[in-house]
Amino acid sequence: MKLFLDSADENHVKFWSGQGILDGVTTNPSVLLRDGVTDPTATFASLARLIAPGVLHAEVTAESGAALVSEALALSELGDNVAIKVPMLTPQGVPCLAEMHELAGAGVQVNTTACLSYGQAALATKAGARYVSIMLGRVDDEGGDGAAVIEEVRRWLDRWGYRTEIIAASLRGPGDVRRAMDAGAHCVTVPPAILSKLADHKYTRHTVQEFLDAADATAAKAA
Ligand code: G3P
Repeated sequence: MKLFLDSADENHVKFWSGQGILDGVTTNPSVLLRDGVTDPTATFASLARLIAPGVLHAEVTAESGAALVSEALALSELGDNVAIKVPMLTPQGVPCLAEMHELAGAGVQVNTTACLSYGQAALATKAGARYVSIMLGRVDDEGGDGAAVIEEVRRWLDRWGYRTEIIAASLRGPGDVRRAMDAGAHCVTVPPAILSKLADHKYTRHTVQEFLDAADATAAKAA
């Protein structure tokens, strides 16, 4: 299973990449805004260098058509390890499958984002997406079960031997990460604050302190 950091903050990327657990970094325009990025292209280039050979996922902002394709091609030139996030639909509901298909044919690693259903993930796979980002939290927001969608898509991919990988996104807590992993997501993308929570445990801290105190006591006796 692959673990991505959902962040454009270089300090967080350096820290978690230094822990040896990251396979890549995902971003989207909301993440760039949250992390105070003012020059997205420069940030993508820098994150791609930082995370190599892991994958940097950069999202297009053109809505559709030739503008989307040319933006995606330009972003993919930033590095061999750059995957391009293309939203499943325009805000008007027009599928971007043709654009994905063209990009995949040109050798671009397409990550179809904003997937909220089984049907969307299946169609994106057919269009040639290398990854489908299923937003578990946003499926839950609408009264659905995001983990169940991931599980069903995984079953379908395996049944037909597709190599498209599911990225579980929109994870709002450690419980969501566990649900996504359990449902068979090939990759999970986790914001830094949630990754910290996954690593931490009050009783682990207490236990480590107990061991250190015991070691001090032993040293004091020996002195
Ligand atoms: O990974 C996608 C994420 O950035 C969106 O999360 O919580 O806004 O649905 P959220």
